Amino acid sequence: MAPTLLVLLGAAAILRADVVPDEFSLLPPVNFTIKVTSLAQVLLSWKPNPDQERRGAQLGYHLRIHAPQDDDYELKHTARKYEAVLHRGFSASVRTILWAQRPTPASRWVSAELKAPPGSPGTSAVDLTCTTNTAADSHTEARPYRVSLRCAWRAGEEAPADTQYFLYYRYGSQTEECRQYSQDSRRRHVACWFPTTSIDGKGQDALAVRVSGWSPRAAIRPYERLFALHEIDEVNPPGNVTAAMEGTRLSIRWERPVSAFPDHCWDYEVKVANTRKDYVQIENTTTNKFNTTVSNISKYRVAVRAAVSVTCRRQGLWSAWSRPIDTGKDEPKPWTEWLLIPLTAALCAAFVCLLGRRTGHICAKLFPPVPGPKSDIGDLMATVNYQKTGSGETESEVISYVEEEHGALEDLVF
Ligand SMILES: *[C@@H]1O[C@H](CO)[C@@H](O)[C@H](O)[C@H]1NC(C)=O
Repeated sequence: MAPTLLVLLGAAAILRADVVPDEFSLLPPVNFTIKVTSLAQVLLSWKPNPDQERRGAQLGYHLRIHAPQDDDYELKHTARKYEAVLHRGFSASVRTILWAQRPTPASRWVSAELKAPPGSPGTSAVDLTCTTNTAADSHTEARPYRVSLRCAWRAGEEAPADTQYFLYYRYGSQTEECRQYSQDSRRRHVACWFPTTSIDGKGQDALAVRVSGWSPRAAIRPYERLFALHEIDEVNPPGNVTAAMEGTRLSIRWERPVSAFPDHCWDYEVKVANTRKDYVQIENTTTNKFNTTVSNISKYRVAVRAAVSVTCRRQGLWSAWSRPIDTGKDEPKPWTEWLLIPLTAALCAAFVCLLGRRTGHICAKLFPPVPGPKSDIGDLMATVNYQKTGSGETESEVISYVEEEHGALEDLVF
């Protein structure tokens, strides 16, 4: 087996030496052109050099795009589409290479250039931002989810006061001009709204946006930007959030956000805030429900937010939190009631102390010999709960229960 392999390798080496002799000279491609095919998109094309000898070798091309960092491709074809912003101009170079050999010998480079469009850079629109959103009302079986687009910018510092700006976007092969502008105080367009676009809600393509400008007094340089959809998509919050308490069990349910992404594409964050204590619990899940154990004598505020998970798209932004839902008991007491509690409690405690000797130890606790502001919080709790029970139980039982409960509460409530 091993000798056969060696023989084969040897044969391959001889074959290559035959095909690619050392003096094989490579000539650069001809007629290299850069053509703008649509918004922020060019077609680079060239022809093989007609004088290039081949001797059976397979030729390829090394394309280098200066955008402005170098971006390199090795191709067998003689054309390539490329997406790039063009308001600063665009240039690229190409050379002939031998496809099969590494490191490959190469011809010299030939280059082509698109000049920057006229107008001083200071006349361009600045601070261009865009966001997309899937319309909540849109989905039917026949029609896919409708994606809206909102963009905003500012007029360039050097743009004359009478400058007017116009916005276009391209997604895939579709280009569209804005029809709903907002204006600044000088009536210049500074924002645009597309209620419907050709953007695919689950798409991976870049969104190309151009703000061009016009003034009778100066050339206005256009401004272009390519946006990655996962970075600008404003995900809707989860819908129909419900929270139900059953004893100490809190069950939260919700629906996935209005979106073209299916159920398995979502990460959720669930926020459970104890509104009496200042505690917030935040949990992550990928399902549409969350259960937790809470104290049944507190009130909770629940909210959920969502993000498309990395299994379906590159890491994007969290949605806003859903509208908070309140659950649990513990209604907030008006301040007069809070004032009444210690008063009533003190009266009741005094009554208890009068009643019998058996409860003497409690009296000592409720009326400590050294009064001070730093009194036992457990006692305060005791009086509060004493108020609430109002049953026929004996007072000593109530108070001891509350003291245990207070300790347990610290562990139970996050
Ligand atoms: C290059 O362009 C010139 C002028 O358009 C044309 O005459 C020539 O045939 C082209 N060369 C090749 C190899 O296509």
